[in-house]
Amino acid sequence: MNILLLGGGGREHALAWKLAQSPRLTALYAAPGNPGIAQHGELVDIDAADHRAVLDFCTRHSIGLVVIGPEAPLVDGLADNLRTMGVPVFGPNRKAAQLEGSKGFTKDLCKRAGIPTAAYERVRSKDGALAALSDFSLPVVIKADGLAAGKGVIIAETRAEAESALDTMFSGAFGAAGEEVVIEEFMSGEEASFFALTDGRAILPFGSAQDHKRVGDGDTGPNTGGMGAYSPARVLTPELEREVIERIIRPTVETLAADGMPYSGVLYAGLMLTDEGPKLIEYNARFGDPECQVLMMRFDGDLVDLLLSVAQGTLADQGPVELSERTALTVVMAAKGYPGTPEKGGAIGGIDAAEAAGAMVFHAGTTIRDGRLIANGGRVLNVTAAGGSVGQAQAAAYAAVDAIAFATGFCRRDIGWREIAREAE
Ligand code: AMP
Ligand code: GLY
Repeated sequence: MNILLLGGGGREHALAWKLAQSPRLTALYAAPGNPGIAQHGELVDIDAADHRAVLDFCTRHSIGLVVIGPEAPLVDGLADNLRTMGVPVFGPNRKAAQLEGSKGFTKDLCKRAGIPTAAYERVRSKDGALAALSDFSLPVVIKADGLAAGKGVIIAETRAEAESALDTMFSGAFGAAGEEVVIEEFMSGEEASFFALTDGRAILPFGSAQDHKRVGDGDTGPNTGGMGAYSPARVLTPELEREVIERIIRPTVETLAADGMPYSGVLYAGLMLTDEGPKLIEYNARFGDPECQVLMMRFDGDLVDLLLSVAQGTLADQGPVELSERTALTVVMAAKGYPGTPEKGGAIGGIDAAEAAGAMVFHAGTTIRDGRLIANGGRVLNVTAAGGSVGQAQAAAYAAVDAIAFATGFCRRDIGWREIAREAE
């Protein structure tokens, strides 16, 4: 089977690596891909925003499955157009992708389906927002409704901070994404992520993970797309996982199907483990980045088979997802300046040495110039390793990090700290 993979980050490199291990794969094409993905397939120059170009490519290359990595093409309706043309696609249609594309949509769905989540109000004007604010205690969470590349959430400790966040959003700082705002009750607890595949009917758990959003050691400094992750997140016990599936995932899948917008793809639930049980923070309509990298390292099955059964609506015929008992841990090596303006062009060496030690180095933001590998983005490499414990996985990942020569890069040195602390208890 020929497969087209859309995206060009570490998540897509991890997907490409696993897709390439399937005996069912004939040819893998990736757009735009990256130099790591190029080890597993052919990079092609198509823009995912140009739906006609994607469709033409699928016809010309007899594509049997399109795997959409990032959220933007999903929210933009690319999967709808592929399905209409009869091309199997992994990823939800536009309406179902609102789970990620509109925070208000998800909150309304939670309310209708009785899914545990923070109390909220949707507001469309500054005046409406100021009036609604009085219903919430502090701290309060202010969110731009639409896609804002992870930057549209502000946790305000004071009323003045909340008002200034509302000012920023309604003055257009997030463009159309901020025309509507969700005000939310602040939840306390530990965060964990849970992944489940669904074809709109069957649900197959795909493991848990925890990431590290802040740029600095000890969870300090500004938020990022994620500086590292590990899987499984043991804090999400089998009992809690069952509760998440029954109280959050299943009602979501059933309500969307009943509303005529069945969800097909991976549901990535961001959870807060509160004293009252797990509550939904948000949904993403795709795999996490870098969470996907650790899930793929633990995944022992045939990824082509599994993603195709999601796309074709035959997920009920699949057995449970085969995930290794081992812990996988990934360290993000970023370019200096990230998450502000990252320094581009820094030389990267030593990947072979890092992989010889048993790690996988996924490319996230690299390119080749004059035959040499250089940094070309904020998050540049995802150094990923597995071990019998989080401590062992962490040691293996950092041994590999230390084999890499990337003078203009940096990473956190404490990925996995929560679990390491728990292991030490
Ligand atoms: P989101 O983009 O909705 O996942 O929000 C980004 C981050 O903001 C989450 O990972 C949480 O750390 C935090 N956050 C979002 N909503 C809440 C909430 N209602 N209570 C506490 N923290 C939240
Ligand atoms: N690592 C967070 C995300 O993929 O949204």
